[in-house]
Amino acid sequence: MAARPGGVVWKSPLRISVDDEWRLVVKAFAADLYDSIGWQVEIVAEDDTPDIQILRRAEYRDEDYELQTGEPTTIEASSAAGASYALTMLRQMGPVELWSSARAELEKIELPRFVINDGPKFRWRGVHLDVVRHFWDVSTVCRLIDQIAAHRLNKLHLHLNDDQGWRVEVPAWPRLTEVGSRRRSSPLGHEDDGVDDNISHGGFYSADDLLTIREHAAKRCVQVVPEIDLPAHAQAVLAAYGELGNVSEPVEVWTRWGISDHVLNVGPEALAFAEEAVCYVASLFPGSPVHIGGDECPTTEWENSPLAQAVMAEHGFTEARQLQGLFTTRMAAALQREGHEVIAWDEVLDAEVPDGTVIMAWRSSTKGIEAATRGLDAIMAPMQFLYFDWPNSLNANEPVAVVPAPYATTWEKVYGFSVYPLGIEPELRHHIRGAQAQLWTEYIATRAHLDYMAFPRLCAFSEVAWGTSTMVSDFRKRLVIHLERLSAMGVAYRPLDPA
Ligand code: ACM
Repeated sequence: MAARPGGVVWKSPLRISVDDEWRLVVKAFAADLYDSIGWQVEIVAEDDTPDIQILRRAEYRDEDYELQTGEPTTIEASSAAGASYALTMLRQMGPVELWSSARAELEKIELPRFVINDGPKFRWRGVHLDVVRHFWDVSTVCRLIDQIAAHRLNKLHLHLNDDQGWRVEVPAWPRLTEVGSRRRSSPLGHEDDGVDDNISHGGFYSADDLLTIREHAAKRCVQVVPEIDLPAHAQAVLAAYGELGNVSEPVEVWTRWGISDHVLNVGPEALAFAEEAVCYVASLFPGSPVHIGGDECPTTEWENSPLAQAVMAEHGFTEARQLQGLFTTRMAAALQREGHEVIAWDEVLDAEVPDGTVIMAWRSSTKGIEAATRGLDAIMAPMQFLYFDWPNSLNANEPVAVVPAPYATTWEKVYGFSVYPLGIEPELRHHIRGAQAQLWTEYIATRAHLDYMAFPRLCAFSEVAWGTSTMVSDFRKRLVIHLERLSAMGVAYRPLDPA
C-alpha cells in the first residue's frame, strides 16, 4: 500500500462501471451501501464518468487486485473475487457506518488517496460450521457468510450430518429427515455431567434452502462446501434405516455428544447408500468440492460382525480399520466422476485414499505433512489452533466449552498459527492449500454465542490465511479499530479484555 496526496469525496448515487459478468459483486456492494447508509448505486458505462471503474485485467493472479482511489477510483482484477475484495477494502477504508446493520445517516464519504496491491497467500481460507449439534436456520448461515466475506475468507464448509442429526432432505431416502433430523434430548451443561435437557431439537434444509445459501454465498464470492460424514457419525442414519447398521436392536438419533460406536455396515446396500446420498447432496452444489468426512470411525462393531469379517477376508485385509477405505474409495470415485473434488478428514490416511483426495488435517499439523508426503494436498485445520469451540481463554468464567482447562485458544494463539506445518520440507509446501477454522456447535446454541466463539478469533485467522500477519502488538491496534466494524455489523464478539 502506498499513500498519495489528496482525497476523494463520494455522494449518493455512487456511479460504478463494471463488466456484465461481474455485476453480481457490485450488486452485493450496492445492497451493503443501501442497507448501511441508504445510498444508491448506479451502474454506468466506463466512459460515463464513474466514481469507481472496475477493470478486468487478465494479468492478475486469481483473487488478486489493485485498488487506486482517485477520480475515478480504479479496481483491477482478473476475477470477480478480486473485484469483490477491492470493494470490501473500500468499505474498510471508509467510515464505520458503512458496516452498520441498522440504517445510519451519511451524507458523504471521504477517502484518502492510496494505491493497494493485494492478494491472498493461500487459496483455501475456510470456515466450517456444524449445523448438526445445533441446527442453524438459513438466515443465520447467510449472516455467517457475510461475516466470512467481510474477512476475505472464501469457503464455508457445512457439516450436514452426524450422530445427532441428518440435516438435508434426500428424496430417495425420506426417513433421513423424517426420522433422522430430530433428536429427543441433548446434554445439558457439559457432556461429562451426564445430564439430559429432554428438549427435542431438530431441523433440516430443503434443496431450495441450500440454493438460497449457495446463491447468497456466490454473490459474496464464498464457495459452499457440503460434507456428508460417513461411515461413522452415522447414528442418525441408522435411526432412520437400521438395516444399514451392524446391530439388530433399533437405535435412536443420538442424544449425547462424543463418538457413537454405531457405524454403517460394510455390505453392498450401505456402500450404495453412502454413494447415493453424497452424490445427491453434491448435485445441489455444482462445481463445489465435497467433503466425505471419514473421521473418528470406531471399528468395534465391524470387529464383531460376521459380514465385516467376510468382507475383510474377501479383500485380504488384516485390520478392521482398512474397511473404511471401501467407503472412501467408493464415495470419492463417484464424486470425482461427477466432477467434484473430494476432501476428507485426516483419518482416511489410515486406509486406502484415492489420488487427488484433499486431506483436512485436524488432529495435528503433522497430518498435513503426512498427506503432502503421500502426494496429497492438505487443508490445515488443526484443533490445537483452529477449533473455535475451544474456550477463548483460561478465565474461569468462560462459558462451558468442549475441552476443559488447560486447553484454550486465545485470539493471540490463533494469530501465531503457521499455515505451513512446522518442519515441512520446502518442496512439499505447494501441497498446503490453506487453512480452515472450525465452529463445532455442541456447546454453541445461539447466534450471540456463535459470534462470541468466532470473533475476534476469526479476525486473527483472516490475516493468517491471507498471509499478512505481523506482530500481535501491531495486529491488536488494527483489531481494536476493526471491532468497531463488528459492533456496527451487530456481531456479539468476545471483548479483548473482558471485565
Ligand atoms: C473432527 O473433529 N472429528 C473432525
